[in-house]
Amino acid sequence: MNDSFKNDVDEGLSKTNKMLSSKYFYDKKGDAIFVEIMNMPEYYLTDAELDIFKNQTQELINSLQLQQNTFFELVELGAGDGTKTKHLLKKLDDDGYDFEYVPIDISKNALHQLETTLHEELPKVKVTKKQGEYFKVLSSFKTTKAPKIVLFLGSTIGNLLDKNAKRFIRSLSDSLNTSDKVLLGVDLIKPVDVVLPAYNDKQGITKRFNLNILERINRELGGNFNLNTFDHIPEYTEDEGIAKSFLVSKIDQTVTIEALQKSFEFKQGEKIHTEISRKYNDTILNSILKDSQLKVITKLTDRKQYVADYILEKV
Ligand code: AVJ
Repeated sequence: MNDSFKNDVDEGLSKTNKMLSSKYFYDKKGDAIFVEIMNMPEYYLTDAELDIFKNQTQELINSLQLQQNTFFELVELGAGDGTKTKHLLKKLDDDGYDFEYVPIDISKNALHQLETTLHEELPKVKVTKKQGEYFKVLSSFKTTKAPKIVLFLGSTIGNLLDKNAKRFIRSLSDSLNTSDKVLLGVDLIKPVDVVLPAYNDKQGITKRFNLNILERINRELGGNFNLNTFDHIPEYTEDEGIAKSFLVSKIDQTVTIEALQKSFEFKQGEKIHTEISRKYNDTILNSILKDSQLKVITKLTDRKQYVADYILEKV
């Protein structure tokens, strides 16, 4: 882990257009800041998807074509604290469905906490947690024959460039059996006055989140980034439908990273690209699905039509 971080930082900061991968946001401190983000008034994504899980639970169950008397596995990629999923689990439990919940997360700690709260709140629900990078856990899927529902919520897929999202969907599709379902939660393309504030909040929480990647380089790789000399710059146009985050050097400076035994030059105004957050519509989503065997069977949206949960079926 630390080695790939080191190599990726070296590679990313050596490019003409400097970049760092958003996957490195999520260390312990980054996880905590992301919880703050989800609670910000500007960050509409969480509430919007929660609205679907709370108020359209039966529609979700119908769209997933679940049967009370057939055992299935409900798998969740990047389960986190399971806030949204609990509404679905409760309804399935109340209505006597025969299933097992399989949360997959990179964080052992998050999984353990989720298991504990589920045990208290929904003691009858069977939980089998799996720790690991879900790209890797996917490959172990085909070994069980039980029908599967795979939840991939929160527009996590939006962090991937379209070509990588395609690749991911393709391998997800390949790991499933015919008539298995995927519930894919995405953020929808909408005007800049709604999207941009979600990535540029007044309290500066997103700025801290973005800067944490430099702090992490300082902490883990012995970097000497001075955080006061970088600004957080988000960009979004409705035309392109992709929110982007950058860190911008406020001054000409040299930063040294001990673990790399290297220095990097930053010009005043030079940017480091740290994140993309893709927003979707039906056309873009279908182009992502094109090379896979996953087809859209239903689309549920929240009352403001900010986000969508697409239900996909493997054909
Ligand atoms: C976790 C990828 C859904 O892109 O909205 C939030 C991450 N970055 N604010 C998103 C994020 C800045 C988030 N996802």
